[in-house]
Amino acid sequence: MIFFRDQRITPREQVAFTRRFGEIDFNIFGERWSVPGAPEIVVVSNITEDGRPLGIRRAGENWHSDMCYTARPPRGTMLYAQEIPTLHGLPLGDTEFASAATAWDALPDAMQQHLEGRMAVFDFRGRKRALTPTQDEIDRNPPVRHPIVRTHPKTGRKCLYVMRDDCTGIEGVDDEEAEGLISALADHIVKPAFIYRHQWRVGDLLLWDNCTVQHRAIQDYDMPQRRLMHRTTMGGTMPM
Ligand code: OGA
Ligand code: MN
Repeated sequence: MIFFRDQRITPREQVAFTRRFGEIDFNIFGERWSVPGAPEIVVVSNITEDGRPLGIRRAGENWHSDMCYTARPPRGTMLYAQEIPTLHGLPLGDTEFASAATAWDALPDAMQQHLEGRMAVFDFRGRKRALTPTQDEIDRNPPVRHPIVRTHPKTGRKCLYVMRDDCTGIEGVDDEEAEGLISALADHIVKPAFIYRHQWRVGDLLLWDNCTVQHRAIQDYDMPQRRLMHRTTMGGTMPM
């Protein structure tokens, strides 16, 4: 992940910048929560105004990689910080990132050999979601399979691609063993040595690679503390 402080850009400029990394990938909730006049940008926010939520609340509270339950998850995601909650000047609402590449490198040979070549099942219905998905959204997202060990399409680096909730099984492994393996690997990826925690400032433009890192939002604030992010996603390829 990389970030730039003190950016002042319009929604149009964010869309144009995102396009430099690939076609914009519309989020499944995008149509419901986009920025007026910029359907490519999704609002992530805890704010309600006149009883109406401004955007998706509590996005990404658990460790995940964006839209891993789709056949072609976005290559990357970008967040542009509009409002950051604070408590007497202390910024809240950090985002944590864990390197799934470093986590892979740190696995013992025996585990690497056990995992290489295996496919996991990812199911949209596995996650406890902030917004209850509609039947239509469920129908549009049938379970998919991805390799547990992804090879980054540009760098060739191997990355673990396993998370709780979304990842519901491993092909050729019985359910009980798969559950144990998924938990152990999901825990391994988020060990302190592999983590960077981002403390936001208004004007931060931050982007991450959904193959190399997992992330989660820290929910340590609530209204009247306001958090508002503009989010775009970049189209990806099938994980290999
Ligand atoms: C996301 C996400 C985390 C955050 O937008 O995909 O997980 O801290 N956001 O808002
Ligand atoms: Mn996310």
